Amino acid sequence: MLADLDAMELEALAELAVVSDDAGLEAFRVRWLGSNGRLREVMTGLKGVSKEEKPAVGKRLNEVKASIEGAFAVKREATTTMPKGPLVDVTEPGFPVGEGARHVLTQTIDEIVDVLGRMGFSVADGPELEDEWHNFNALNIPESHPARGPADNFFLGGQVAGKLLLRTQTSTVQIRAMESMKPPLKICAIGRVYRPDAHDATHYSMFHQVEGLFIDRKVSMVDLKTTLVQFAKAFFGPEAEIRLRPSFFPFTEPSAELDMKMKIMKNGKPEWKWIELGGCGMVDPNVFKAVGIDPEEWTGFAFGLGIERVAMRKYGIGDIRLLFENDARFLRQFA
Ligand code: DAH
Repeated sequence: MLADLDAMELEALAELAVVSDDAGLEAFRVRWLGSNGRLREVMTGLKGVSKEEKPAVGKRLNEVKASIEGAFAVKREATTTMPKGPLVDVTEPGFPVGEGARHVLTQTIDEIVDVLGRMGFSVADGPELEDEWHNFNALNIPESHPARGPADNFFLGGQVAGKLLLRTQTSTVQIRAMESMKPPLKICAIGRVYRPDAHDATHYSMFHQVEGLFIDRKVSMVDLKTTLVQFAKAFFGPEAEIRLRPSFFPFTEPSAELDMKMKIMKNGKPEWKWIELGGCGMVDPNVFKAVGIDPEEWTGFAFGLGIERVAMRKYGIGDIRLLFENDARFLRQFA
């Protein structure tokens, strides 16, 4: 009888082990623990056991009952907390998740900052919403200058005195840097600028510029040109060249237009071409005076380049609007 009980316990536990759902659990309960179940049947059979055997068999029967009931309770807990529905095969490959990537302009900006950083320029910053002092006056752009008119600027809240505008150039950061730091200084600034231009393939009302400013004793045009040559070679490769053409900007004297010979992609083929990228020059003494720097002691150079131009030429992008439409199919080409 005792051996029968051992076998019964094993049988019940083995059966329970393969139960995996509510229906199987209920069937097990009825067959083993129910009022007509196997355990009850054995208990009834206890009557036929001899007096001497009874205590041992009774004790063992209680143990087996407790063992099966305990295992059943554990299994019920596990089964009812199991997720419903079809089992998930965690080894399946799954669906590909669209991966993000840096925008082609952001890539260009990061590369420019990286090159300038290695050349010793630290990054300075200024607000996109500016006052006329930083956007014009301190940059030696007189009140009467045509570029200060409403047609060329996004002024805020109409034409009142002390007005604010969206900055039209990152040269504003030159002024902010000189107001907050003492020379010698070597900074670059990258950011958005705004002009009320109608949108077409080469114009947009918002674009990005990178500005450079270096002030020290005895800085000369040679330093400017050397810096720009180094920048061009680091950015476009050792074959890159630059060209300065005499020009005019109110905040530099002398001033020059900056062309870079860049490797551009044309019909899928690389080709070297002169591209006008921005302006540069020696900081005008009037700008130094506006920020309280002595022009007899300090000299400096500055430059400002359009980043979209660099990116468009470098990557063979024919229309500036593509850069801001954020069509993922276009942007993915540069990821
Ligand atoms: N701010 C000028 C522009 O937006 C570009 C420029 C010219 C920046 C000469 C400079 C500079 O720093 O020296 O057209």
